[in-house]
Amino acid sequence: MVEEVNDADHLLEHAGEIVGIYAAAFGPEPELAADRFAAALAKHAERDGFRCCLAYMDSQPVGFIYGFTAFAGKPPSPWYARVRDVAGAEWIEGQFEVPWFGVRPSHQHRGMGSRLLDRILSKLPHRRAWLVIRAADERLRAFYRHRGWLDLAEDALGSETLRAVMGRDV
Ligand SMILES: CC(C)(COP(=O)(O)OP(=O)(O)OC[C@H]1O[C@@H](n2cnc3c(N)ncnc32)[C@H](O)[C@@H]1OP(=O)(O)O)[C@@H](O)C(=O)NCCC(=O)NCCS
Repeated sequence: MVEEVNDADHLLEHAGEIVGIYAAAFGPEPELAADRFAAALAKHAERDGFRCCLAYMDSQPVGFIYGFTAFAGKPPSPWYARVRDVAGAEWIEGQFEVPWFGVRPSHQHRGMGSRLLDRILSKLPHRRAWLVIRAADERLRAFYRHRGWLDLAEDALGSETLRAVMGRDV
């Protein structure tokens, strides 16, 4: 079952579930520690166009995906400015940004990730969606390519390892 949790107040009730899935999906060396991810999630939930989907199996939360409308106009940080410059404003500004997405390892490869991705992209008012992942993660890039996502750019985006910006029409 996939449930939509699209407002900040309702999201707070599910934040613990989402952080638990994040910790399991991203393993022992996540990009953000769980507490920093929780803080980012709370901030992101306030963003325009916020949309979150949670997947349950046997009443247990096993997957999540969320996103929101990206900035338009002045970039809110040098990172966003760089993403726009390398991928093209027409792909980034005012489009749907998907920062985080994960399924518990115990429940991967059963189509749950595909269902979450389809669900969050359905009925969006945006023309396009975009996301940033590690460029070296070929398995993940293939996962997105198989689902219609395009490689828009590769750049370090200020970090130590190369990143890939991917996008698709929705
Ligand atoms: C990326 C991620 C969310 C995908 O979740 P998932 O539930 O495993 O996704 P799916 O099951 O829909 O698809 C995964 C693969 O399993 C295959 N698959 C789907 N159903 C299957 C089934 N019943 N049996 C076997 N394989 C299956 C799919 O074909 C897909 O492979 P493909 O890319 O070659 O087509 C998950 O791997 C994850 O959480 N990774 C760690 C965190 C991460 O990297 N998040 C994304 C960046 S923010």
